[in-house]
Amino acid sequence: MKKRILIISGGISKEREISLDTGRQVAKELIKNNYIVKIVEPNLEIHTAIKSFKPNIIFNALHGQFGEDGYIQSILETKNIPYTHSGVISSAVAMDKELSKKIFIQNNILTPKYFLYYFNKSKFELIKLINKKLKFPVVIKPINEGSSVNVFICKKSNIMKKIKLLEDYKKIIIEEFIPGREIQVAIMGDKKLGAIELKPKRKFYDYEAKYKKSAKTKHLIPVDLSKYNLNKILNISLRAHKLIGCRGVTRSDFKFYKNKFYLLEINTQPGMTKLSLVPEIAAYKGISFFNLIEWMLKDASIKR
Ligand SMILES: Nc1ncnc2c1ncn2[C@@H]1O[C@H](COP(=O)(O)OP(=O)(O)O)[C@@H](O)[C@H]1O
Ligand SMILES: [Mg+2]
Repeated sequence: MKKRILIISGGISKEREISLDTGRQVAKELIKNNYIVKIVEPNLEIHTAIKSFKPNIIFNALHGQFGEDGYIQSILETKNIPYTHSGVISSAVAMDKELSKKIFIQNNILTPKYFLYYFNKSKFELIKLINKKLKFPVVIKPINEGSSVNVFICKKSNIMKKIKLLEDYKKIIIEEFIPGREIQVAIMGDKKLGAIELKPKRKFYDYEAKYKKSAKTKHLIPVDLSKYNLNKILNISLRAHKLIGCRGVTRSDFKFYKNKFYLLEINTQPGMTKLSLVPEIAAYKGISFFNLIEWMLKDASIKR
């Protein structure tokens, strides 16, 4: 019998458009391969769609808030239908950069030094604190966004102006700036799928560099690393994936500087359009876009 797949895409996060694109592309592949597919938004539609469409598996194509942080996962747990990617707790922990950095540090995984900022200091106090704990430039970022939304590199001269842009968050991360190379690693279950290097033409791997073709970010695969270092970054990624209890596919974002890997974050709902990084790494390893999607469906589960 043909399998029925419910794809959830869109949503309320700042990565809505990317998620819709993922949803459409995954649907196209599945339909081509004889699956029956329905796409829904993550709202009340889900409940009616589950009742009427009766999916065998749910494909979570969401990114960011509500889709990647455990919220949608906890709703799906109540439906008793296997869903793709990580479960409730691991999604919540991975999406929260404060919590996940604490786990990395506890487990001797190098991550940039940081402190939390609650918008409660004068310019003078903040600059003094940064000089003491980190040194300029620093990176400021929200705890739970993705796609480089509201991530800024700040100098002493513009820090207050940039911080003002993030005022709607309760707290933010202020982190040491790590120069050097940008390398990301895909994990597929318990398999180290591979690494890719990004060479943005822009100041850093920001939203435009990630999604706008005109930004001309170069993707390098295979990554030019010694065998030892490649093994090292793959092992760190698999450890992080396991420590946080992730399922399915994850993508870990690193900076590589002075022969050290700094783990910035682990993404439990990495981009899954045909041109996204995980599918690109998979393709390099001989796994087609469809094979990757099919593996994710097989790996889908509940209660984790
Ligand atoms: N501490 C840092 N040092 C240097 N660059 C950073 C740092 N933190 C973030 N960046 C840059 O910003 C990008 C997005 O940061 P990241 O922490 O991965 O958040 P997001 O969830 O938005 O992807 C990174 O890929 C990197 O280019
Ligand atoms: Mg990232």
